[in-house]
Formats: sequence, structure tokens, C-alpha cells
Amino acid sequence: MENAAPLTPFPLDVLLGRIAHEWETRQRIFDLPTGRFWKRPDNIDLSMEFLGKPAATPVGPAAGPHSQMAQNIVLGWLAGARVFELKTVQVLDDIDIGRPCIDMETIGFNTEWSQELKVAESLEEYVKGWMIIEILRQWEPLEPFVGTDPGPHVFDMSVGYDLAGIQTDKVAGFIGSLLDAGAEIDRLSPQIPEPFAGFRDHDFPTRVSDTLTLSTFHGCPPDEIEAMVKHLMDRHGLDVIVKLNPTLLGFPRVVEILQKDLAYEHIRLNRLSFVDDLEIGRAVDLISDLQKYAADRERRFGVKLTNTMVVNNDRDVLPDDPMYMSGPPLHVLATSLLDDLLSTMPGTFMVAGHDGPVQVSFSAGVAKGNISATVGMGVAPATLSSDLLRPGGYGRLEPMLRQLEKDMEAAGSHTLAEWHQHSWDEARAGGFRGPAEAHMTNIVKGHGKSQYDLYANEDPPRSVDHDLEMWGCVACNFCVTVCPNDAFFRLPTPEGADMSGRQQYFVLAELCNECGNCMVFCPENGDPAQVKPKLYLDRSRFGLGEGQGFFLEPEGDGVSITARQGFESEAGRLDELLNDRVEGIPIRAGDL
Ligand SMILES: Cc1cc2nc3c(=O)[nH]c(=O)nc-3n(C[C@H](O)[C@H](O)[C@H](O)COP(=O)(O)O)c2cc1C
Ligand code: SF4
Ligand code: SF4
Repeated sequence: MENAAPLTPFPLDVLLGRIAHEWETRQRIFDLPTGRFWKRPDNIDLSMEFLGKPAATPVGPAAGPHSQMAQNIVLGWLAGARVFELKTVQVLDDIDIGRPCIDMETIGFNTEWSQELKVAESLEEYVKGWMIIEILRQWEPLEPFVGTDPGPHVFDMSVGYDLAGIQTDKVAGFIGSLLDAGAEIDRLSPQIPEPFAGFRDHDFPTRVSDTLTLSTFHGCPPDEIEAMVKHLMDRHGLDVIVKLNPTLLGFPRVVEILQKDLAYEHIRLNRLSFVDDLEIGRAVDLISDLQKYAADRERRFGVKLTNTMVVNNDRDVLPDDPMYMSGPPLHVLATSLLDDLLSTMPGTFMVAGHDGPVQVSFSAGVAKGNISATVGMGVAPATLSSDLLRPGGYGRLEPMLRQLEKDMEAAGSHTLAEWHQHSWDEARAGGFRGPAEAHMTNIVKGHGKSQYDLYANEDPPRSVDHDLEMWGCVACNFCVTVCPNDAFFRLPTPEGADMSGRQQYFVLAELCNECGNCMVFCPENGDPAQVKPKLYLDRSRFGLGEGQGFFLEPEGDGVSITARQGFESEAGRLDELLNDRVEGIPIRAGDL
């Protein structure tokens, strides 16, 4: 098993300095162009309530690679995310996960089940993300692109995976520090650099999060889930959502949908995971009991559909086994589970036509093609991970929101409540119990199936028969957009330079955890994260690595470059690119 280089987050001053510098030199933030920033439309209100808290849109990253580091969270916000399910934190924060850990070649598999940062680092990343968003909300240059009022957003914690773990001082301290981040904000504020230095004395809201989505690991006993929810409500006063697994559908239903209806016969289900996981009868009792428990304490409770599906790994891509399936087929499974739960527990859930108290959050293959139907079912928020790992990355959120706005406008709906009503009326007129059954029928048996079945999702990304080299490539930009950590950036090739290709690509080595996603989408043969120049800002990390690599230090207005042995001849080319006066390295040299 190969283990990854550790993630080394950039400090707050470097991140804010980069925002200012990148804006000034290329009008992008963390490589996202302004055309992909989301701005509230005048005539459509997409706002929702997440466990009683307002959020200006019903979408955001699901717990995963897009909600782990500060710049990831900021990228999501710029593109329109307003509900952030933060990457799950657990007491065991030094686990080695085999690399690569993300396989999006077809539908979506991963083995990235645990956070890759220490708990204290995760806390700092979330607070940094929170502070940067607060600053950007008020930063004048952004106003034409995000509007005068970008609307409220919600940070939702996620912890796992057992009661003993969440009771430890480490995890309890993490939760407490997001409930009141005053000390962390006070510690970080002096780092705020120009041109944002006026925010050093800003009154940042200190309650970063007071809701939590509990990630239950496959096989977690029901009594343990119940005890964890009660503990989180009682000890920390949190409103809690439990993330449920698709195994709740039962083995025969999953086989029928996945293997027969959608033709994924080759996916090897893990029968044991169905035996160990919560089953539907117990889930119904659990939901009723926990809702009552929450209501008695004036707390809110909800469920999330769904976590990933555990399957055996028979693909030759990820080293770890089992692996976790997400993406299009999971959308069908989660929609079927929602329809089952709505029929079994009428009046329980906070969705159209039911008006119950239990919020239903959704994460399963959400994408532009189904956002309107998903939100129309009444679930909120609709969070996503797999779709954001595809080319376009965070920039896929804005067109997704525009699609929802367009569909709502065409139906004469100006608020999400009106859209729910419209979806309800349409489904009933079509003879369905409600929009969940209508959507499920469409994607399991109707026209919609063609987006979700094997035939729509079996082709690997396009490739060209050429070995990837350090300089020059087809310059598709995929490595920049599919990287959840924004570890890649590009620079235009200077006129007359001794390099092929329109653009040159670089890896900020400390931000790369070797997840493998850029390798999957790169059309050339090779791993961009290993082949393209690896730039280090941290001398000790530079010293640890092998192969090509370049250490950058500030020198005058630019950077000086130290190459690893054997790669000195490349330093001249790097110097020409990184010290270019027009664009150059996106990070402010003085902050290094
Ligand atoms: C790479 C990756 C890492 C993930 N990490 C977590 C995690 O730490 N905690 C968690 O509860 N879910 C995790 N998930 C599951 C997602 O939050 C989400 O529920 C699931 O992927 C389904 O949504 P999707 O089809 O949009 O990907 C992860 C998913 C992916 C793809
Ligand atoms: S650079 Fe590639 S391997 Fe590294 S984190 Fe980004 S997508 Fe993953
Ligand atoms: S390295 Fe690969 S993915 Fe990145 S721009 Fe070049 S060809 Fe595209």
C-alpha cells in the first residue's frame, strides 16, 4: 500500500495574500474565473432553512475532499454553495489511506473515509474558511460578481465514527471550538495581511457551527447511532442529522435497482455490510425515537440520504478494499430510499406534502441534470461530492444553480416553497404519490434512466496517445479544475519561450494528497501530480520528497528557486515563468 504525502495547509496570510495577488494579476480567486461566481438573481429566491438556520441556496459540498481545506470551502462559496457539510473529523487522525484514493473514471468510487488532517488542523481550516468568506462578503472588488448581499451560509460539522471517539476530549474540544471559535479567531486575526488588514479588528461571528451531521460508519450498531445522537444533543446542545446508508434498502432491492434496472451487474456488493448495517424496521423506530427525543429538548433532528455504498474492490485502480460507491447510481438508490421512507412514515419528514418535523438532507449523485428534480422532492440541502470531482470542478455549481433558477422561472415559481408546490402538483397530476415517486419512476424505468445506467457511465474520460512531460501538454486545464484542493495552477507560455504548449501547469506540492483524481482525467499518459513541476513553499517538505521538486523562497519582488538534484537545468525555465511580471506565481512572493 502506498501512503500519501501529508497535506500541509497554507496559513491564513498566504491564502489572503494569494486572493489579493491573483485578483490583481488575473481576476481569478483560487483559479476560479469570475464567470463561475454565483450572484443572487433578482427574481428568484433560492433560500432555505437548514435546521432552522437560513442559507441563501440549497446546495453545497458534501463531507469530503471539497470541505476539508480553507481554500476548498472558499471556492465552494464563490460558486454558490451556501450549506457546507464539513469533512468528517474523528479521533483517529493519523490513519494511512492507500493512494490513490479517488477513482472517478466511471461512476465514482473512493476509499477516502477519514480526514487527512490532524483534528486541530481541521479546526483551523474551518475557521480560516469562515473568516475568509466573512472578508470576501464585504470586499468591494467582488461586489459586481457576488452582489451586495451574497446571502447567509451555514457550516455544518461532521463527526464519526463511534461513541467512544466522539466523547474524547479531542473531538469534544473540536466541537466546542466551532460552537465558540472566539479564541481561534483571536489567534488568527493578527495574521490578516494587506489589503485586508482593516479586518484584523473585525467582529467575526464566533459561532461557526451549531449543527452536526453524524457520519456513521458501515456496520455501526443502531444503539450506538442512537447513543451518539443523544450525546451530541445533550453534551453539546447541537441540532443533529444522521447520515444513513443505502444498505437500508435491503440487499434484494439494491440488487434489483443496481444490477437489474441499471445494468451494473459487475459491481460486487458486499453482502456482509447489509447484515451489519441498520435495517429499515429499526431505522423507522430510530427516526421516531430521536425526533421525539430532540423535540422534548427543543432541538432539531434530521436524516441525510445517503452515505456511499460499500462495494468490493475488483477494479485495478485503488489499492484499498472495500471501496465506497457514489455518483449517478447512488442517486437512484437514495431516491428510492426516500420514496420508501416517505411511504412508511407519512407526516414525518419536512418535505412537500408531508410537512413533518424531520429535515431530509440529500447527497447522492446530485448534478446539473437532476438538481431541479432533487430539490423539487423537498429535500434540502442537496450536497454533492462526485460531480465536483469532474472537469469544471467547483465551477460546476454555478451552472447547476442557474439551471434550477431557469426551471423555477419557467414554472412561475419564485421561491423554493413555490417550486415544491409546483413539483407536488405535477407529480399528483401524473398519478404519483408525490415528486419522490415521480422522480424515482423516471430514473429507474423512464427516460431519465439513460443518465444513470451503466451505458451512460461506462466510458472512461478521453485520452490521447502521448506521454505526459514536465513542459507542454494538450492544456485541457482538467488538472486545475478536478483538483479539490486547488493544488494545480497554470501560466501562459511566454512568447518565444523554449517550451511547447499554450499553457504550463504546476503543482503546489503541500496541497496535493496524491488522491489520483487529476491522473484519471488527464488525457495524456502519466500522473500530472508527479510529472508537472512540484513547487514547495515548506523547506522541510521539500527535503522529504524524492524525484523532481523545486523549493521557492522570496527574493526581491519575486522568488528564487532551488531544484532537487538532477533537475537544476529546469530551474531557468521555472524562473522565467514564475517571475513573469504579468501573471507569474499566483502566491504573493512576500508571503512565502
Ligand atoms: C472522496 C470522497 C470522500 C468522502 N469523505 C466523506 C467523509 O469524510 N464523511 C462522510 O460522511 N462522507 C464522505 N463522503 C461521502 C459524501 O459526503 C457523499 O455523501 C457521497 O459521496 C454521495 O454524494 P455524491 O454522489 O455527490 O458523491 C466522501 C465521498 C467522496 C467521493
Ligand atoms: S493535484 Fe491531483 S493528486 Fe494532487 S490533490 Fe489535486 S487532484 Fe489529487
Ligand atoms: S497535465 Fe494533463 S490534465 Fe493537466 S492540462 Fe495538461 S493534459 Fe490537461
